[in-house]
Amino acid sequence: MSQTGNRNRPKVVVTRKLPDIIETRMAELFHVSLNLADKPYDQEALKAAVADADVLVPTVTDKIDADVIAAAGDKLKLIANFGVGVNHIDLAAAQAKGITVTNTPGVLTEDTADLTMALLLAVPRRLFEGEKILRAGDWTGWTPTFLMGHRIQGKRLGIIGMGRIGRAVARRAQAFNMAVHYHNRTRLPEEVETDLEATFWEDLDQMLTRMDFVSVNCPLTEETHHLLNRDRLKKLQAHAVIINTARGEIIDEEALADLIEVGRIAGAGLDVFEAEPEINPKLLELDNVVLTPHMGSATIEARVAMGEKVLINIRAFVDKHRPPDRVLPY
Ligand code: 8YV
Repeated sequence: MSQTGNRNRPKVVVTRKLPDIIETRMAELFHVSLNLADKPYDQEALKAAVADADVLVPTVTDKIDADVIAAAGDKLKLIANFGVGVNHIDLAAAQAKGITVTNTPGVLTEDTADLTMALLLAVPRRLFEGEKILRAGDWTGWTPTFLMGHRIQGKRLGIIGMGRIGRAVARRAQAFNMAVHYHNRTRLPEEVETDLEATFWEDLDQMLTRMDFVSVNCPLTEETHHLLNRDRLKKLQAHAVIINTARGEIIDEEALADLIEVGRIAGAGLDVFEAEPEINPKLLELDNVVLTPHMGSATIEARVAMGEKVLINIRAFVDKHRPPDRVLPY
């Protein structure tokens, strides 16, 4: 760990390597502990970090559970998460201890929606099967029936979770002339629905039986854990393809792999997994599954903007203002 910055300033512990420009600014503003080697903290290292920090900057790879929060010293008043999802933070424990939690919404929406579309195209158009054949030197030339996939135009896309990212996916799907359907805890205002030409399904099960493609874009919470369990996945049509750029735990991954293996679901595009970085070995065997390593927000632009949001949240908090992206207190 590298310690830099003014020692009289708040001590900020950043758990992973962030873009250089963000780390430089952190060191100018705070007494900062950086992780230049980018080795993930284990639970003991996290406990040691929170014991002595004023602010913790974790990422999705850090499990900020009740034990870690219990180990926090009196000084720790802010967890400024680098990322929008906060499922890796025990919010109830943080709330009980009076710790403020912030995140980085809005700046990764378009990039995550782009990656969703990339997967939504890559699976039915068999992009990586083609790539694999070509790189292996196995392509013998064009034929009329080689690697035929399916078009997405005119197909039904069911979006689960119509927050910022879900809506950005809907806008893209509109441009590809897909029919947009969605399931969400609350129905969108009529003008937004009209604008997105989106059909609301209150009943997720009913929506699943009718879709050609399903995109998971909701946050991971207790309610959405295994929202797509085996029974629900079985409701999909055999030609349906599922895309997940949200959180792996929303889908029962084992059930998904089984159902794709036996042809009950046509394929999947997955950017997130239940036990990252472990991947269910069955998925690795399947040609009709495209797998990417949690890279929805992995653009330089998004990662710098996320870092800037972290800086702004910390600075506002330290200056006794309300941080703009407050998750806690509610
Ligand atoms: C981030 C994400 O890369 O922001 C999120 O919730 O899933 C990713 O895009 C990651 O969470 C950073 O902590």
